[in-house]
Amino acid sequence: MPPGEIPQPPILAAADELRRGRLVVFPTETVYGLGADALNADAVAAVFERKGRPSGNPLIVHVSGTEMARGIVAEWPPLADRLAAEFWPGPLTIVLARGDTIPDAVSAGGPTVAVRCPDHPLTRPLIDALGRPIVGPSANPSGTLSPTTADHVRAWLGDSVMILDGGPCERGIESTVVSVDGGTIRVLRPGVVTPGSLARFATVEAYENAAGSLASPPPAETVPLRSPGLLRQHYAPRTRLRLFESADRRAVLDRLHAAGSSLVVLSHGIRLEDPRIIRMPPDPHTYARELYAAMHRADAFGADAILAELPEGGDPVWLAIRDRLLRAAAH
Ligand code: TXA
Ligand code: MG
Repeated sequence: MPPGEIPQPPILAAADELRRGRLVVFPTETVYGLGADALNADAVAAVFERKGRPSGNPLIVHVSGTEMARGIVAEWPPLADRLAAEFWPGPLTIVLARGDTIPDAVSAGGPTVAVRCPDHPLTRPLIDALGRPIVGPSANPSGTLSPTTADHVRAWLGDSVMILDGGPCERGIESTVVSVDGGTIRVLRPGVVTPGSLARFATVEAYENAAGSLASPPPAETVPLRSPGLLRQHYAPRTRLRLFESADRRAVLDRLHAAGSSLVVLSHGIRLEDPRIIRMPPDPHTYARELYAAMHRADAFGADAILAELPEGGDPVWLAIRDRLLRAAAH
Protein backbone atom coordinates (compact mmCIF):
# COMPACT_ATOMS: atom_id res chain seq x y z
CA MET A 1 0.00 0.00 0.00
CA PRO A 2 1.44 3.41 -0.84
CA PRO A 3 2.49 5.28 2.33
CA GLY A 4 -0.28 7.39 3.76
CA GLU A 5 -3.05 5.46 1.99
CA ILE A 6 -5.86 4.54 4.34
CA PRO A 7 -7.04 0.93 3.99
CA GLN A 8 -10.71 0.56 3.11
CA PRO A 9 -13.16 -0.69 5.77
CA PRO A 10 -13.62 -4.13 4.12
CA ILE A 11 -9.85 -4.64 4.18
CA LEU A 12 -9.65 -3.68 7.85
CA ALA A 13 -12.57 -5.98 8.69
CA ALA A 14 -10.91 -8.82 6.77
CA ALA A 15 -7.59 -8.22 8.56
CA ASP A 16 -9.48 -8.34 11.83
CA GLU A 17 -11.03 -11.71 10.92
CA LEU A 18 -7.58 -13.09 10.09
CA ARG A 19 -6.17 -11.73 13.34
CA ARG A 20 -8.85 -13.68 15.23
CA GLY A 21 -7.75 -16.87 13.52
CA ARG A 22 -10.68 -16.97 11.09
CA LEU A 23 -10.63 -17.62 7.37
CA VAL A 24 -11.08 -14.92 4.71
CA VAL A 25 -11.41 -15.41 0.96
CA PHE A 26 -9.18 -12.98 -0.93
CA PRO A 27 -8.85 -12.06 -4.62
CA THR A 28 -5.59 -12.30 -6.54
CA GLU A 29 -4.65 -11.79 -10.18
CA THR A 30 -4.71 -15.60 -10.68
CA VAL A 31 -7.56 -17.19 -8.72
CA TYR A 32 -9.30 -16.54 -5.37
CA GLY A 33 -7.52 -17.84 -2.28
CA LEU A 34 -8.83 -19.25 1.03
CA GLY A 35 -6.77 -17.18 3.44
CA ALA A 36 -5.60 -17.58 7.01
CA ASP A 37 -2.84 -16.12 9.17
CA ALA A 38 0.17 -18.15 8.04
CA LEU A 39 1.77 -17.99 11.48
CA ASN A 40 -1.29 -19.33 13.34
CA ALA A 41 -1.19 -23.15 13.29
CA ASP A 42 -4.87 -23.53 14.24
CA ALA A 43 -6.00 -21.19 11.49
CA VAL A 44 -3.82 -23.08 9.00
CA ALA A 45 -5.38 -26.37 10.17
CA ALA A 46 -8.82 -24.86 9.53
CA VAL A 47 -7.84 -24.20 5.89
CA PHE A 48 -6.91 -27.85 5.33
CA GLU A 49 -10.11 -28.93 7.07
CA ARG A 50 -12.38 -26.60 5.08
CA LYS A 51 -10.89 -27.60 1.72
CA GLY A 52 -10.67 -31.30 2.54
CA ARG A 53 -7.04 -30.96 1.51
CA PRO A 54 -4.64 -33.85 2.12
CA SER A 55 -2.19 -32.85 4.85
CA GLY A 56 0.70 -33.84 2.55
CA ASN A 57 -0.04 -30.97 0.14
CA PRO A 58 1.72 -27.78 1.33
CA LEU A 59 0.27 -24.27 1.08
CA ILE A 60 1.54 -21.13 -0.63
CA VAL A 61 2.36 -18.26 1.74
CA HIS A 62 1.38 -14.82 0.41
CA VAL A 63 3.54 -11.86 1.38
CA SER A 64 3.27 -8.14 0.69
CA GLY A 65 6.87 -7.90 -0.53
CA THR A 66 10.40 -9.19 -0.24
CA GLU A 67 10.92 -7.93 3.29
CA MET A 68 8.13 -10.15 4.59
CA ALA A 69 9.37 -13.01 2.40
CA ARG A 70 12.81 -12.83 4.00
CA GLY A 71 11.17 -13.26 7.41
CA ILE A 72 9.73 -16.68 6.62
CA VAL A 73 12.56 -18.39 4.75
CA ALA A 74 15.80 -19.85 6.09
CA GLU A 75 17.75 -18.16 3.35
CA TRP A 76 16.82 -15.57 0.72
CA PRO A 77 19.28 -16.24 -2.12
CA PRO A 78 20.34 -13.58 -4.65
CA LEU A 79 18.44 -15.46 -7.36
CA ALA A 80 15.18 -15.11 -5.39
CA ASP A 81 15.90 -11.40 -5.10
CA ARG A 82 16.30 -11.06 -8.85
CA LEU A 83 13.15 -13.07 -9.58
CA ALA A 84 11.13 -11.07 -7.07
CA ALA A 85 12.43 -7.78 -8.51
CA GLU A 86 11.28 -8.85 -11.96
CA PHE A 87 8.04 -10.73 -11.31
CA TRP A 88 6.60 -9.52 -7.98
CA PRO A 89 3.94 -8.56 -7.36
CA GLY A 90 2.75 -11.20 -9.79
CA PRO A 91 1.97 -14.83 -10.59
CA LEU A 92 5.29 -16.41 -9.64
CA THR A 93 5.59 -18.63 -6.54
CA ILE A 94 9.11 -19.36 -5.32
CA VAL A 95 9.87 -22.45 -3.23
CA LEU A 96 12.73 -21.89 -0.76
CA ALA A 97 14.15 -23.40 2.42
CA ARG A 98 11.66 -22.73 5.20
CA GLY A 99 12.34 -20.55 8.21
CA ASP A 100 11.27 -21.64 11.69
CA THR A 101 8.37 -19.19 12.15
CA ILE A 102 6.24 -21.12 9.67
CA PRO A 103 4.05 -23.84 11.25
CA ASP A 104 4.86 -27.39 10.07
CA ALA A 105 1.43 -27.87 8.50
CA VAL A 106 2.00 -25.03 5.98
CA SER A 107 4.93 -26.93 4.51
CA ALA A 108 3.27 -30.33 5.00
CA GLY A 109 6.15 -31.13 7.32
CA GLY A 110 8.71 -30.57 4.57
CA PRO A 111 11.87 -28.44 4.56
CA THR A 112 10.61 -25.81 2.10
CA VAL A 113 8.03 -23.06 1.88
CA ALA A 114 6.35 -21.63 -1.22
CA VAL A 115 6.22 -17.81 -1.25
CA ARG A 116 4.31 -15.46 -3.51
CA CYS A 117 3.49 -11.75 -3.60
CA PRO A 118 0.07 -11.41 -5.27
CA ASP A 119 -0.75 -8.50 -7.55
CA HIS A 120 -4.13 -7.27 -6.41
CA PRO A 121 -5.17 -3.86 -5.05
CA LEU A 122 -7.19 -5.41 -2.20
CA THR A 123 -4.89 -8.21 -1.14
CA ARG A 124 -1.52 -6.56 -0.67
CA PRO A 125 -3.10 -3.90 1.58
CA LEU A 126 -4.84 -6.77 3.41
CA ILE A 127 -1.50 -8.47 4.12
CA ASP A 128 -0.03 -5.16 5.21
CA ALA A 129 -3.01 -4.39 7.44
CA LEU A 130 -2.55 -7.79 9.13
CA GLY A 131 1.20 -7.27 9.24
CA ARG A 132 1.73 -11.00 8.74
CA PRO A 133 1.83 -13.35 5.76
CA ILE A 134 -1.29 -15.31 4.80
CA VAL A 135 -1.61 -18.84 3.47
CA GLY A 136 -3.90 -19.20 0.52
CA PRO A 137 -4.72 -22.28 -1.44
CA SER A 138 -7.26 -21.73 -4.18
CA ALA A 139 -10.70 -21.23 -2.57
CA ASN A 140 -12.33 -24.46 -3.75
CA PRO A 141 -12.81 -27.95 -2.33
CA SER A 142 -9.64 -29.98 -2.89
CA GLY A 143 -9.36 -31.36 -6.42
CA THR A 144 -12.13 -29.25 -7.95
CA LEU A 145 -12.16 -26.20 -10.24
CA SER A 146 -10.41 -23.08 -9.00
CA PRO A 147 -12.60 -19.98 -8.52
CA THR A 148 -12.01 -16.84 -10.58
CA THR A 149 -14.99 -14.83 -9.28
CA ALA A 150 -16.42 -14.20 -5.82
CA ASP A 151 -19.63 -15.92 -6.98
CA HIS A 152 -17.73 -19.14 -7.67
CA VAL A 153 -16.61 -19.08 -4.04
CA ARG A 154 -20.06 -18.10 -2.71
CA ALA A 155 -21.56 -21.12 -4.46
CA TRP A 156 -19.36 -23.24 -2.19
CA LEU A 157 -19.08 -21.29 1.07
CA GLY A 158 -22.22 -19.12 1.07
CA ASP A 159 -21.71 -16.44 3.70
CA SER A 160 -19.98 -18.73 6.20
CA VAL A 161 -16.60 -17.11 5.43
CA MET A 162 -15.91 -13.43 4.75
CA ILE A 163 -15.22 -12.89 1.04
CA LEU A 164 -13.33 -9.85 -0.25
CA ASP A 165 -14.84 -9.37 -3.69
CA GLY A 166 -12.20 -8.06 -6.09
CA GLY A 167 -14.05 -8.81 -9.32
CA PRO A 168 -13.00 -11.41 -11.92
CA CYS A 169 -9.34 -12.49 -11.73
CA GLU A 170 -7.15 -10.93 -14.45
CA ARG A 171 -4.91 -13.92 -15.20
CA GLY A 172 -7.27 -16.80 -14.52
CA ILE A 173 -4.90 -19.72 -13.96
CA GLU A 174 -2.80 -20.43 -10.89
CA SER A 175 0.69 -19.01 -10.45
CA THR A 176 3.80 -20.56 -11.93
CA VAL A 177 5.52 -22.48 -9.11
CA VAL A 178 9.31 -22.74 -9.23
CA SER A 179 11.97 -24.04 -6.91
CA VAL A 180 15.41 -22.49 -6.91
CA ASP A 181 18.24 -24.84 -6.01
CA GLY A 182 21.61 -23.21 -6.38
CA GLY A 183 21.69 -21.66 -9.82
CA THR A 184 18.83 -23.70 -11.33
CA ILE A 185 15.18 -22.76 -11.58
CA ARG A 186 12.90 -25.77 -11.77
CA VAL A 187 9.32 -25.23 -12.95
CA LEU A 188 7.01 -27.30 -10.73
CA ARG A 189 3.71 -25.92 -12.06
CA PRO A 190 3.46 -24.08 -15.39
CA GLY A 191 1.65 -20.74 -15.53
CA VAL A 192 1.73 -17.39 -17.29
CA VAL A 193 5.29 -16.68 -16.10
CA THR A 194 7.00 -18.78 -18.75
CA PRO A 195 10.30 -20.72 -18.81
CA GLY A 196 11.49 -18.29 -21.50
CA SER A 197 11.04 -15.28 -19.24
CA LEU A 198 12.74 -17.12 -16.35
CA ALA A 199 15.71 -18.15 -18.52
CA ARG A 200 17.10 -14.62 -18.34
CA PHE A 201 17.94 -15.26 -14.69
CA ALA A 202 19.26 -18.83 -14.50
CA THR A 203 19.24 -22.22 -16.15
CA VAL A 204 15.64 -23.38 -16.32
CA GLU A 205 14.56 -26.96 -15.98
CA ALA A 206 11.21 -26.81 -17.72
CA TYR A 207 8.24 -28.67 -16.39
CA GLU A 208 8.72 -32.17 -17.69
CA ASN A 209 5.09 -33.27 -17.81
CA ALA A 210 3.81 -30.27 -19.65
CA ALA A 211 4.30 -31.60 -23.17
CA GLY A 212 0.57 -31.91 -22.96
CA SER A 213 -0.97 -33.97 -25.67
CA LEU A 214 -3.81 -36.45 -25.65
CA ALA A 215 -1.28 -39.13 -26.48
CA SER A 216 0.88 -38.34 -23.46
CA PRO A 217 -1.16 -36.94 -20.57
CA PRO A 218 0.65 -36.03 -17.35
CA PRO A 219 1.68 -39.25 -15.59
CA ALA A 220 -0.11 -40.26 -12.42
CA GLU A 221 2.62 -39.57 -9.91
CA THR A 222 3.23 -41.47 -6.74
CA VAL A 223 4.21 -40.08 -3.35
CA PRO A 224 6.46 -38.52 -2.33
CA LEU A 225 5.67 -35.86 -4.87
CA ARG A 226 8.06 -33.11 -5.76
CA SER A 227 5.11 -30.76 -5.78
CA PRO A 228 1.88 -32.36 -4.62
CA GLY A 229 -0.20 -30.12 -6.88
CA LEU A 230 1.18 -32.27 -9.66
CA LEU A 231 -1.33 -34.95 -8.74
CA ARG A 232 -3.03 -35.90 -11.95
CA GLN A 233 -6.64 -35.40 -11.08
CA HIS A 234 -6.85 -31.79 -10.20
CA TYR A 235 -8.74 -28.70 -11.25
CA ALA A 236 -11.62 -30.96 -12.28
CA PRO A 237 -15.28 -30.10 -12.93
CA ARG A 238 -18.01 -32.35 -11.48
CA THR A 239 -19.11 -33.33 -14.98
CA ARG A 240 -16.95 -35.87 -16.81
CA LEU A 241 -14.52 -33.99 -19.06
CA ARG A 242 -13.28 -35.43 -22.34
CA LEU A 243 -10.74 -33.73 -24.58
CA PHE A 244 -10.62 -33.68 -28.36
CA GLU A 245 -8.12 -32.48 -30.94
CA SER A 246 -8.89 -29.71 -33.40
CA ALA A 247 -8.81 -32.21 -36.27
CA ASP A 248 -11.91 -33.83 -34.72
CA ARG A 249 -14.14 -30.74 -34.64
CA ARG A 250 -16.42 -32.11 -37.35
CA ALA A 251 -16.94 -35.42 -35.54
CA VAL A 252 -17.65 -33.58 -32.28
CA LEU A 253 -20.30 -31.44 -33.98
CA ASP A 254 -21.91 -34.56 -35.40
CA ARG A 255 -22.02 -36.06 -31.93
CA LEU A 256 -23.44 -32.87 -30.50
CA HIS A 257 -26.12 -32.83 -33.18
CA ALA A 258 -27.29 -36.27 -32.07
CA ALA A 259 -26.77 -35.68 -28.35
CA GLY A 260 -29.56 -33.30 -27.31
CA SER A 261 -28.69 -31.72 -23.97
CA SER A 262 -26.42 -34.50 -22.73
CA LEU A 263 -23.25 -32.85 -24.08
CA VAL A 264 -21.67 -29.45 -23.79
CA VAL A 265 -18.68 -28.35 -25.86
CA LEU A 266 -15.85 -25.97 -24.99
CA SER A 267 -13.93 -24.84 -28.06
CA HIS A 268 -11.71 -22.02 -29.31
CA GLY A 269 -12.14 -23.16 -32.92
CA ILE A 270 -15.84 -23.88 -33.38
CA ARG A 271 -17.63 -20.59 -34.08
CA LEU A 272 -21.14 -22.04 -34.36
CA GLU A 273 -23.91 -20.32 -32.35
CA ASP A 274 -25.40 -22.95 -30.09
CA PRO A 275 -26.26 -22.71 -26.38
CA ARG A 276 -24.38 -25.98 -25.81
CA ILE A 277 -21.17 -24.58 -27.30
CA ILE A 278 -19.03 -22.39 -25.04
CA ARG A 279 -16.78 -20.45 -27.39
CA MET A 280 -13.29 -19.79 -26.04
CA PRO A 281 -10.97 -16.98 -27.15
CA PRO A 282 -8.22 -17.81 -29.67
CA ASP A 283 -5.58 -15.88 -27.70
CA PRO A 284 -3.91 -17.86 -24.85
CA HIS A 285 -3.91 -15.05 -22.27
CA THR A 286 -7.61 -14.36 -22.73
CA TYR A 287 -8.31 -18.09 -22.87
CA ALA A 288 -6.52 -18.55 -19.53
CA ARG A 289 -8.53 -15.73 -17.98
CA GLU A 290 -11.80 -17.34 -19.04
CA LEU A 291 -10.96 -21.03 -18.60
CA TYR A 292 -12.31 -21.71 -15.10
CA ALA A 293 -15.40 -19.52 -15.51
CA ALA A 294 -16.15 -21.45 -18.72
CA MET A 295 -15.69 -24.79 -16.95
CA HIS A 296 -17.93 -23.62 -14.08
CA ARG A 297 -20.57 -22.68 -16.68
CA ALA A 298 -20.15 -25.98 -18.50
CA ASP A 299 -20.61 -27.80 -15.19
CA ALA A 300 -23.82 -25.88 -14.52
CA PHE A 301 -25.39 -27.35 -17.68
CA GLY A 302 -25.79 -30.65 -15.86
CA ALA A 303 -24.77 -32.52 -19.02
CA ASP A 304 -23.39 -36.06 -18.98
CA ALA A 305 -20.07 -34.90 -20.40
CA ILE A 306 -18.09 -31.82 -21.34
CA LEU A 307 -16.08 -32.13 -24.56
CA ALA A 308 -13.21 -29.64 -24.58
CA GLU A 309 -10.97 -28.89 -27.55
CA LEU A 310 -7.29 -29.16 -26.58
CA PRO A 311 -5.45 -26.05 -27.89
CA GLU A 312 -2.33 -26.82 -29.91
CA GLY A 313 -0.44 -23.51 -30.05
CA GLY A 314 3.25 -23.33 -29.17
CA ASP A 315 2.95 -20.31 -26.84
CA PRO A 316 4.05 -21.42 -23.33
CA VAL A 317 0.78 -20.11 -21.93
CA TRP A 318 -1.02 -22.69 -24.08
CA LEU A 319 1.22 -25.24 -22.42
CA ALA A 320 -0.01 -24.15 -18.97
CA ILE A 321 -3.60 -24.31 -20.23
CA ARG A 322 -3.11 -27.79 -21.70
CA ASP A 323 -1.65 -28.87 -18.38
CA ARG A 324 -4.85 -27.78 -16.55
CA LEU A 325 -7.13 -29.38 -19.17
CA LEU A 326 -5.25 -32.68 -19.20
CA ARG A 327 -5.36 -32.88 -15.42
CA ALA A 328 -9.04 -31.96 -15.31
CA ALA A 329 -9.77 -34.75 -17.79
CA ALA A 330 -7.71 -37.38 -15.96
CA HIS A 331 -10.59 -38.96 -14.02
O1 TXA B 1 -2.11 -18.60 -8.06
C1 TXA B 1 -1.97 -19.28 -7.03
O2 TXA B 1 -0.89 -19.84 -6.75
C2 TXA B 1 -3.18 -19.41 -6.11
C3 TXA B 1 -3.48 -18.05 -5.48
C4 TXA B 1 -4.59 -18.09 -4.46
O3 TXA B 1 -2.31 -17.50 -4.96
N1 TXA B 1 -2.95 -20.40 -5.11
C5 TXA B 1 -2.91 -21.72 -5.39
O4 TXA B 1 -2.73 -22.52 -4.30
O5 TXA B 1 -3.04 -22.17 -6.52
P1 TXA B 1 -2.95 -24.09 -4.31
O6 TXA B 1 -2.82 -24.52 -2.90
O7 TXA B 1 -4.24 -24.41 -4.98
O8 TXA B 1 -1.74 -24.61 -5.12
C6 TXA B 1 -0.43 -24.50 -4.55
C7 TXA B 1 0.53 -25.34 -5.33
C8 TXA B 1 0.24 -26.79 -5.15
O9 TXA B 1 0.54 -27.42 -6.39
C9 TXA B 1 1.24 -27.20 -4.07
O10 TXA B 1 1.54 -28.56 -4.11
C10 TXA B 1 2.42 -26.34 -4.44
O11 TXA B 1 1.85 -25.11 -4.85
N2 TXA B 1 3.30 -26.09 -3.28
C11 TXA B 1 3.00 -25.40 -2.16
N3 TXA B 1 4.05 -25.42 -1.30
C12 TXA B 1 5.03 -26.12 -1.89
C13 TXA B 1 6.35 -26.50 -1.51
N4 TXA B 1 6.86 -26.15 -0.34
N5 TXA B 1 7.07 -27.24 -2.39
C14 TXA B 1 6.56 -27.60 -3.60
N6 TXA B 1 5.30 -27.28 -4.00
C15 TXA B 1 4.55 -26.55 -3.17
MG1 MG C 1 -5.74 -25.35 -6.00
